[in-house]
Amino acid sequence: MSLLRARAHAKVNLGLRVLGRRADGYHELRTTLQTISLADTISFEPAEDISLQVTGPYPVPAGDDNLVLRAARLLARELPGHGARILLEKRIPPGSGLGGGSSDAAVTLMGLARLWEAALEPHRLDALARQLGSDVPFFLYGGTCLAVGRGEEILPLPDLPAWPILVAWPGEGLSTAEIYATLPESLTRQRILSSMKGFVPPPPGGTGEAAEPPDLTNDLETTAIRRLPALERLRERLVAGGAQAVAMSGSGSAVFGLFPGESRLERLAASLSAAGAHVFACHLVPRETYRGTLFERS
Ligand code: C5P
Repeated sequence: MSLLRARAHAKVNLGLRVLGRRADGYHELRTTLQTISLADTISFEPAEDISLQVTGPYPVPAGDDNLVLRAARLLARELPGHGARILLEKRIPPGSGLGGGSSDAAVTLMGLARLWEAALEPHRLDALARQLGSDVPFFLYGGTCLAVGRGEEILPLPDLPAWPILVAWPGEGLSTAEIYATLPESLTRQRILSSMKGFVPPPPGGTGEAAEPPDLTNDLETTAIRRLPALERLRERLVAGGAQAVAMSGSGSAVFGLFPGESRLERLAASLSAAGAHVFACHLVPRETYRGTLFERS
């Protein structure tokens, strides 16, 4: 049988608010998640056992902690008697807040269900995805989504247009667990949020006017900048380079800017790259495009 190739897109958080620390130790969030065109590629081939090989500019260990292997083994427990040879090409930097590992995990669940010709109900896939990490369920949807709870409760929103976005990564990752563990008390004490205003981006324009950029406040940003001051300078350069809105993604350490057009973005990409940042010139990926281009067989 044939090879199944998949695209595992990165995400950015278009704003992230921390509402308090929960009894289970996780933090209650409100965040808008958005898929972007930067993607890992994963290929799946039927085999006796499950195996993983990793290549690409950001190779991560292919050991038991790898989210692709964890997802494959979790699914194989539901669907015994199947195996796969998996090749992961890592193009999304790890420890960047761009959700690469989570996306790989979600795409592995969906890809292996296809490869093994198993019709899993969406709620079964969602239940498996939640076990693998807070950001994993989002990648079963893609596009623009509101995420609440610890980030795993997903509400698909009307898609934003395929805006140009420049993502810049300083070359050093941050640990999500460490960022959450060192948040100031003002963010972790229990609070109740009475308004959803600011979390829901405006619907795509249609009037010909430029759509208002969403509120991109990220409550994790101050803590991340304290650990990695280079983020502040990257941020300033995105603002000075003409970005309409600038923010950090997730718990960092990637920052990004939304741009009104390609030309400024490309100029800034060249100068940030010359200054040593890892730079990704991308666009937002709406849900229909995401769903329609996830898999191809060859
Ligand atoms: O769910 P995931 O394994 O991706 O989360 C990684 C770590 O980030 C958790 O172990 C937890 O320390 C922290 N986290 C949190 N609150 C969230 C999501 C993650 O405290 N909503």
